[in-house]
Amino acid sequence: MTKPAVEVRPLVRQKARSLGALGEQWLAELPRRISDVERRWSVDVDVGRPLPGGTSSYVARARTRDGRDAVLKLSLPSTDFASQVRTLSLAKGQGYVRLLAYDVERHAMLQEALGPSMDRLGLAPRAQIETLCAMLRRAWQAPRAAGLTADPAQEKARALGEMVGRLWESLGRPCSERVVNQALTFAGRRAAEFDPDRCVVVHGDPHPGNALRVTAPRAGAGAGFVFVDPDGFLADPAYDLGVVLRDWCGELRGRDGAAARGLVRSYCALLADRTGVDQRAIWEWGFLERVSTGLYVLDFGAEELGRPFLDTAELLV
Ligand SMILES: Nc1ncnc2c1ncn2[C@@H]1O[C@H](COP(=O)(O)OP(=O)(O)O)[C@@H](O)[C@H]1O
Ligand SMILES: [Mg+2]
Repeated sequence: MTKPAVEVRPLVRQKARSLGALGEQWLAELPRRISDVERRWSVDVDVGRPLPGGTSSYVARARTRDGRDAVLKLSLPSTDFASQVRTLSLAKGQGYVRLLAYDVERHAMLQEALGPSMDRLGLAPRAQIETLCAMLRRAWQAPRAAGLTADPAQEKARALGEMVGRLWESLGRPCSERVVNQALTFAGRRAAEFDPDRCVVVHGDPHPGNALRVTAPRAGAGAGFVFVDPDGFLADPAYDLGVVLRDWCGELRGRDGAAARGLVRSYCALLADRTGVDQRAIWEWGFLERVSTGLYVLDFGAEELGRPFLDTAELLV
């Protein structure tokens, strides 16, 4: 039987193309890379039906030759794949997906097969936020790798501030000056309050699309979900909660500023209540994340995905 052609999701293709020659090469080599790992890891990959939800990787279901389900992930060269592998290896399935095999050089990993992501289950936002908090409390206990240090010069708020300033100009100022100034003020404040003693190994992008239901109850998945796709750097736990707060653009659509602020404040209070983390820090990270994500996504050409983050930032400023 001949195999179907390798299908790449449009957003992943777009992200790859935005990387220039390196991304084009990744796209061109993808079918061969898949056959390589199929051979080396003795799996058959369902190449014609990649899984939805991401932008930076080709992800598809696979089956081991001895009949077990797995998932293959092949990431774009732009991702910090080594950090991802390191974080998942050290977590050993506690709050995170289990790693079955990996090859850092080829940006390839074989993972435990999980169910649908949290954003596809029709759960109310508050229920999603509560579950994400329970998952994060577990994930933040992941051991830190030897050599992973919290260097103020590499700290996230500063990096995001620099990116916001740069992209706002290079993209032709796609949101108001008020929004950008607020994001930069918050970046400065978060950087100034950076405290290495408060740092944990954060997930780095714990949005509901990276929270996947386990197919059966298991240790380390008490919330019924585990995270995939960790960045795994050292930061204030409030950073991860800011990422959770940055979403919900659909909920904010059609509201005026006061109503939007009220709703996001109530989500922020819930995040603080469920984790014991400072509410102001979460708010500031959340706004900075909203603006930086909007600009970052516009920069790789996904206008439809990026615009809502900037539009909702206008409501909250
Ligand atoms: N282990 C897995 N089991 C089932 N689905 C998965 C698994 N890993 C990823 N997926 C699906 O693929 C999507 C993208 O995966 P992710 O690791 O987040 O890649 P990206 O780097 O592109 O964000 C997820 O949103 C999820 O729908
Ligand atoms: Mg993802």
